[in-house]
Amino acid sequence: MAKKIVAGNWKMNLNADSALTLIKGISEVSLPSDVRVIVFPSSVFIGQVVEASSGIEVGCQNFSNEDKGAFTGEISINQIKSIGANVGLIGHSERRAYYKEDNALLKTKVDQAIKENFDFIFCCGEPLFIREEGKEFSFVREQLNESLFHLTSDQMKNRVIAYEPVWAIGTGKTASSIQAEDMHLSIRSWITEKYSAEIASSVSILYGGSCKPSNAKELFACPNVDGGLIGGAALDVDDFSQLIKSF
Ligand code: 13P
Repeated sequence: MAKKIVAGNWKMNLNADSALTLIKGISEVSLPSDVRVIVFPSSVFIGQVVEASSGIEVGCQNFSNEDKGAFTGEISINQIKSIGANVGLIGHSERRAYYKEDNALLKTKVDQAIKENFDFIFCCGEPLFIREEGKEFSFVREQLNESLFHLTSDQMKNRVIAYEPVWAIGTGKTASSIQAEDMHLSIRSWITEKYSAEIASSVSILYGGSCKPSNAKELFACPNVDGGLIGGAALDVDDFSQLIKSF
């Protein structure tokens, strides 16, 4: 069975003090033991957040596809691991849109993570114009085909995918539970087709995009929604804790 996960992507928010206040606040809440909880702070605070967290995994929002060397401004998986993070995001729509990370580049990040035995959440999702053209399924399938589905069955087992429709991110427009379930079911059926039903059922598929306590219960109740990748609502202790308790 796919693991239930709630992950908070803090994006380029908070400073060292407010990041520590937030992680300490979340760590004090009594959370369900069957939900994997991860936070993704800005890389500069990862070490401090790891030290202040209890029972919560800490990840990085981005990492290099290179091992080390002359890559100014980049951070390697080895460096991230050395300060205690064990998981990274790959292919968030903001990296795709603002930093021109395309499917081919993201495939190299997937390969780097596999090589370094580093866990990751692979993000996918269509922009508004693609949905308006009715091409969201082929668009997301292509993102997965070109960056992720080259993995072997062993490498694909227990992976985590986040479906984040770009038009729902930070806009207050959540996908309806029907829209989310339709895409999640499709993603799982593509994994079944390409790998097997067993592998497909081991993959956690998270929803992201204006997910908040008021809509999470309905979204998380969908058979193929295994949790959420949360932006804005992850910056508030009460909202984030409620989201973790929304299954
Ligand atoms: P919001 O929850 O703020 O819409 O952001 C979602 C997101 O991009 C998480 O990675």
